[in-house]
Amino acid sequence: MSIRLGDKAPDFTQDSTEGQIRFHEWMGDSWVVLFSHPADFTPVCTTELGRLAGLKQEFDRRNVKVIGLSVDPVDSHRGWARDIAETQGTEINFPLLADADRRVSELYDMIHPNADSTATVRSVFIIDPNKTVRLMITYPASTGRAFDELMRVIDSLQLTEYQRVATPVDWKSGEDVVILPAIPNEEADKLFPQGYKELKPYLRITPQPSK
Ligand code: BEZ
Repeated sequence: MSIRLGDKAPDFTQDSTEGQIRFHEWMGDSWVVLFSHPADFTPVCTTELGRLAGLKQEFDRRNVKVIGLSVDPVDSHRGWARDIAETQGTEINFPLLADADRRVSELYDMIHPNADSTATVRSVFIIDPNKTVRLMITYPASTGRAFDELMRVIDSLQLTEYQRVATPVDWKSGEDVVILPAIPNEEADKLFPQGYKELKPYLRITPQPSK
């Protein structure tokens, strides 16, 4: 089954480094980053997991939980976590799913057989507190992901969700945003008391609202 943006994120129960996880229950009212990596004890993944662990405060500030996955067993994850701490200087502070039976990887289509018949690719899903899939990206095994970009998308999604604005090309947090086209000017006048520039009826620019 393929997953598309706007779909309900499939629920599952699977073992992890923090015990058995019932996904929807574990999510609670948080946003979630669910990601896969090709395998334990591999170089790119080692750097990725170290960096993710170092971003914990940033994720917490945004009400985001992180959960990783590969098709390795729990013991392997635990052994590798020691290497990550040693080489990257960060203790893993989120659960790693041990998907040896591929239950979750198949549910989320994380194995792309023409790229690699057994290992998961680098998939990322951002899921909102309503359990709706809001972003999907897929990187090849040999390219480490840019987690600054992931954080940027989380900020953008949360601005749209809570402040009814969208973010323009190359936007970075703190820069001007655009008012959602579905909002008529009469409503925009009330929602954005700081004002906006109307370059076109569909292109209205306003300072980024505070969170
Ligand atoms: C890795 O570090 O995960 C990796 C690097 C090169 C090719 C495949 C995987």
